[in-house]
Amino acid sequence: MNTLREKVTQILENETELFSKRLQNLCDLLRNSLDRYTWVGFYFANAENKTLHLGPFSGTPTDHTCIPFGKGICGQVAVSDDYFLVPDVTAQDNYIACSLSVKSELVVPLFVNGMNIGQIDIDSEKIDAFNEQDVDFLTWVNAQIAQSWPVDYIPKEING
Ligand code: SME
Repeated sequence: MNTLREKVTQILENETELFSKRLQNLCDLLRNSLDRYTWVGFYFANAENKTLHLGPFSGTPTDHTCIPFGKGICGQVAVSDDYFLVPDVTAQDNYIACSLSVKSELVVPLFVNGMNIGQIDIDSEKIDAFNEQDVDFLTWVNAQIAQSWPVDYIPKEING
């Protein structure tokens, strides 16, 4: 994924774009570059209300724009501070279906200044689509995001 990593860095370093647009471009890049990545999006945490809010995403729009901490795969990652790899979504009790065509999912927390401020969520229409390499790659992507995060940037979605 070396070339892809270079493209990720280029997008994040492009200071001519607003940061939210860079995150949008990143979602589009990942979904368009990797066939297994059917849906790519960010959820951001409102720590006070204990809710996650949908940020930039690429793929079919979802009704689940607000998810309470603890609910679904995303909500569990908000409280566990650890990634969640789901090879088969039908085997999960605490799962929120965005689309019946989704078969597997990977959610990786996003830490900015040591705080779990949200996550990147990847859905796939393939069963068992993700492995440890995807975890490593997305952990790296999130570390790059954290590095380029503007000091005063608060995602507008968390107030919604
Ligand atoms: N499946 C997720 C909900 C978000 S959608 O996949 C976009 C979950 O269980 O938290």
